[in-house]
Amino acid sequence: MNILILGSGGREHAIAWKLKQSKKTSQLFIAPGNAGTAQVGENVSLSLSNFDSIANFIKDNAVEMLVVGPEAPLVEGIVDYFEAASEFSNLKIIGPSKYAAQLEGSKEFAKEFMMRNNVPTARFQSFTAKNIEKGYAFLEGLKSPYVLKADGLAGGKGVLILNNLDEAKNELKSMLVDAKFGAASSNVVIEEFLSGIEMSVFVLTDGVNYQVLPEAKDYKRIGEGDTGLNTGGMGAVSPVPFVNDELRERIIKNVVEPSVNGLAKEKFNYKGFLFIGLMIVDNYPFVIEYNVRMGDPETEVVMPRIKSDLVEHLEACSEGRMNETEVVFEENAATTVMLVAEGYPEAYEKGKEMTGFDLTSDCILFHAGTKQDKDKVLTNGGRILAVSAVGENFKDALSKTFRNAEKINYDGKYYRKDIGFDLMEF
Ligand code: AMP
Ligand code: GLY
Repeated sequence: MNILILGSGGREHAIAWKLKQSKKTSQLFIAPGNAGTAQVGENVSLSLSNFDSIANFIKDNAVEMLVVGPEAPLVEGIVDYFEAASEFSNLKIIGPSKYAAQLEGSKEFAKEFMMRNNVPTARFQSFTAKNIEKGYAFLEGLKSPYVLKADGLAGGKGVLILNNLDEAKNELKSMLVDAKFGAASSNVVIEEFLSGIEMSVFVLTDGVNYQVLPEAKDYKRIGEGDTGLNTGGMGAVSPVPFVNDELRERIIKNVVEPSVNGLAKEKFNYKGFLFIGLMIVDNYPFVIEYNVRMGDPETEVVMPRIKSDLVEHLEACSEGRMNETEVVFEENAATTVMLVAEGYPEAYEKGKEMTGFDLTSDCILFHAGTKQDKDKVLTNGGRILAVSAVGENFKDALSKTFRNAEKINYDGKYYRKDIGFDLMEF
C-alpha cells in the first residue's frame, strides 16, 4: 500500500518510522517532511492547506492511505474534502471530520461534549464580550489560581493561569475585548484549577470501537523543574510509572469509554487518533483537553513501544473494524528529549549545521525541525531533534537518551536535562 503522511515534525518522523516497518507498506511519502523523514520515505513538497494539490498527488501516485499528522488540516476539514469526492471513496483517511475536530478546535465544544457524556473535567463556564460582567462574577466565585482558555486554536498559547483575581479579570478583558489571541479568544472558557499531575492517553478509534496505545507524560515547560514558558513539549516518557492498576482502570472506565461512547452516540465521523490530556487528582483522572491527533513529542515514545503492525491497525480503523485488531505493546520503557534552538519558544535562528549523528548508538533520532542541504543537515525550526531510546525501565531508557543527546551538536543547542525528574520515586 502507498501511504502519504502529512506533517513535518518529530511526530510524523516517528509515525513514518513505524509504518515503514510494516510488510504492507510499499511507498511511503511525507509532505512536507524533514531531513529525518527523507531517510524512511520520500519527502514531497506540498502545502497542507492546499487540499487540491494533495488530492492531485494522491491520484498521481496511487496513494491508498492518508495519515494526517497535525490538527490544522483536520480542523480545516481535510477529511470532509476527501469524503465528498467519489473518486476518493477507497482512500483510507486517518483523522476525524471537521465537525469532530472541534474537540480540539474549540474548548467550549470539547467541554460541552464532556458534560453531555459524563467525562470528568474541571467545572467551567464560557463567556464572550457581551456577557463579560458575568465572567467577572464567575471568577469571583472561584478560588485562585484562575484558568482562562481561549476557545479556538492559539498555537498552544491560549491558556492562562493567574494567581490574582484582578489580574484574571484584566486578562479576561484583554482576551474578549482586545482580542489578545485574535478570533480564537472571542469566546473564553473559565475553569476551576485542578491540582495534580498531568499525563496523556492515546486511543485509536473508528468512532465506535477503540484500542488504547501506550500512555505518556510530556514535559511542556522550557526550563528545568517545569519552569518558564510553555512549549510544544521538551521530552516524554512512556509508560508513566505512577499509573497503577487502579488508576489505569479508572482512566478506561471513567474517561476513555464515556469519550468513545460519546463519539458513537452523537454519530461523530471519527476515524483516527484521540489524544486525551489528563490531570490526575488523588488517583482520579480529569480531562484537561482532547486533541484530535497524536502528541509531539509523545509519539516519539509511543511508536517505539508498539509491537504490532500499525498499518494493520490504521486499515482497521478506517474501515470501522477496530474491534478486529489488537494493539500489542512491548514490555519496555521509552524516553525522549527534544533538542531545541536557543531562544525557543520565542524568536530563534535556523540554518545551523548539525553534527554528531554518526557518534550516536542505541537510540532512535526522530527529526523535528531539520532540513537536508546537500550532504549537510541544518536546523530548520525551534524544535529540532527528538532523541528517543528504549530500555528495560524508564531510568535505563533515560540514560541512553541523555548519553546520545550529548553527541549531537549545533550552534545554540539547548535541552532539558531533567526529563523524568518528578518520577524518580516511582
Ligand atoms: P491546554 O492548552 O488545554 O493543554 O492547557 C495548557 C496547560 O494548562 C495544561 O497542560 C495544564 O498544565 C494547564 N491547565 C489547563 N487546564 C487546567 C486546569 N483546569 N487546572 C490546572 N491546570 C490546567
Ligand atoms: N505535546 C503536546 C501536544 O502535542 O499537544
